Amino acid sequence: MTQAIYPGSFDPVTKGHLDIIIRSSKIMDRLIVAVLDNPRKVATFDIEQRVEMLKMVTKPYPNVEVDFYKGLLIDYAEQKKIDILIKGLRAISDFEFEFQMALVNQKLNPSIETLFMMTNSKYSYLSSSIVKEIAALGGDIRSLVPPEVFDMVVSEYS
Ligand code: PNS
Repeated sequence: MTQAIYPGSFDPVTKGHLDIIIRSSKIMDRLIVAVLDNPRKVATFDIEQRVEMLKMVTKPYPNVEVDFYKGLLIDYAEQKKIDILIKGLRAISDFEFEFQMALVNQKLNPSIETLFMMTNSKYSYLSSSIVKEIAALGGDIRSLVPPEVFDMVVSEYS
């Protein structure tokens, strides 16, 4: 059985994230979308909200689970006995940091592989920060986030 973890902050989940989730869930038998609960980084949405948003948008995909983790991603992957990590790549600007993280994780556990999935060009400009910036300034984010999370994001800024 092929299993993978798609980790991230998902603060909030965007249509770009969902595109990666859908595409990787077709390749994998089981996909865990794992939200990092990072006490060192202030998030806009708390961990429960981010997990809830992901659960709503992944409901149609029975082989997708949502979970959260604290600490090192590699430790979480070992605990789950999953040896594939999926990362989305949007632009060249993502590459340097993702490349470094993949190499660090490879050093920490060489049997865990990072697989990169290219963004859908429709969403190459999209990020959680951009969504929050537009929402905070009263712009329309309808085309940027899945419909299930739209109200939650808008109400955060109203
Ligand atoms: O959505 P993001 O913020 O780009 O996701 C980054 C994330 C959460 C996948 C990554 O920062 C992570 O897993 N951090 C957990 C700590 C860790 O494992 N650090 C070592 C690799 S740099």
